[in-house]
Amino acid sequence: MGDGGQVSQVQILLTERCNIKCRHCAVPAEDSPASHEMSTTQWKAFLDAAAAAGTESVVINGGEALVRRDAIELIEHALAAGISWATLITNGMLFGNRAAAQIAAVQQRWPAFGVHVSVDGASAQTHDWMRGAGTFTRLLASVTRLRAAGGRVTGINSVIHRGNVHEFEDLAALAAGWGAEVLTVFPSADLGRGIALADTRLSRPVWLELYERARAVRDRYGLMVGIGGPVMADEWPEDENLVPRPRSERPDKVCIGPDGAVFTCPPLRWHQVGHVGDRCDQAGWTAIARRAARALDESCASCKYLLVCTNVDLDDPLRPRPGAFGMPARASVTTAGGYTATAGARPAAPVPIALSRRPGRDQGDSRISS
Ligand SMILES: C[S@@+](CC[C@H](N)C(=O)[O-])C[C@H]1O[C@@H](n2cnc3c(N)ncnc32)[C@H](O)[C@@H]1O
Ligand code: SF4
Repeated sequence: MGDGGQVSQVQILLTERCNIKCRHCAVPAEDSPASHEMSTTQWKAFLDAAAAAGTESVVINGGEALVRRDAIELIEHALAAGISWATLITNGMLFGNRAAAQIAAVQQRWPAFGVHVSVDGASAQTHDWMRGAGTFTRLLASVTRLRAAGGRVTGINSVIHRGNVHEFEDLAALAAGWGAEVLTVFPSADLGRGIALADTRLSRPVWLELYERARAVRDRYGLMVGIGGPVMADEWPEDENLVPRPRSERPDKVCIGPDGAVFTCPPLRWHQVGHVGDRCDQAGWTAIARRAARALDESCASCKYLLVCTNVDLDDPLRPRPGAFGMPARASVTTAGGYTATAGARPAAPVPIALSRRPGRDQGDSRISS
């Protein structure tokens, strides 16, 4: 992103509306009306500025982005503007014949357009528990339609918990069978409706086993497997000296809400670093991206969601807990988003909140991309 800013990926929450109501959803749609959303023209102007400023990758997320008719048009616009990669994260419920044909046509013109579908279990029983009755059957039919039209599912996102962890290998087989390249699993984060699922989280021995299982399916299917988790402060015993090692000390992405508010990540949703509507040109976006990169530098090391954002380093998954073996101890800190972290470097002073044009709503979104 140029001069000091190290933000290469922009995650756009195009809308927070959705056509279904998942049990774990971090993005309750109830108070997020279409009237808060930026228009097609405003998004295109932003994408042009982001491309000119060197943004490499755009993830279109939500809510369910496909409830907006312009989602695929915006993805094509981003790629045509010079952004190298664009990924749609979707529940896969809205691939009717017309949408499937449109997605497939854009993927054929732009092979760097990836479609990641969320699959929260490899059976109707587990997926529907999370996403509602009939959703697994509808998802399979959607993927069949997309593939028949010449399109591709390039990745699967799965929220993993005690009720579906036994299906991990089946999820990998499903991904491989669809020709996908990426499988990313996450714990359910304490955001939105997900808060109610805290007691479904995996224990430490199950996470350790999952790291091994992830390496095995990676080798077996040639998939890129990401394991985002655990949510450290909740799931890893305080007396363990070795803790999971994140792949990076901070992510290199920022999020933009439906109304154009820029924030670093869902847990810091109301810690805004700018608004794309303030100055939607290259210089304006570059300045915001630099502020975002600084906020990430200052906040990530003390955030309990770091593993969820960056995934675990599967080839070397454990490191000494800070404080153990003479490493500098980290203090507990409550972040601006209200989440308490118990591991992390010395917490930085809070970054001033800037440029929020619209009052925020008290909700978070999942990543949580892929
Ligand atoms: C918010 S959804 C938006 C895209 C689309 N509606 C979908 O479900 O794929 C993006 C991803 O976040 C995941 N997600 C939602 N709430 C979450 C939570 N509380 N913790 C972890 N992941 C969550 C979803 O399962 C999905 O894979
Ligand atoms: S997880 Fe996705 S599909 Fe499910 S309610 Fe949330 S936004 Fe909608």
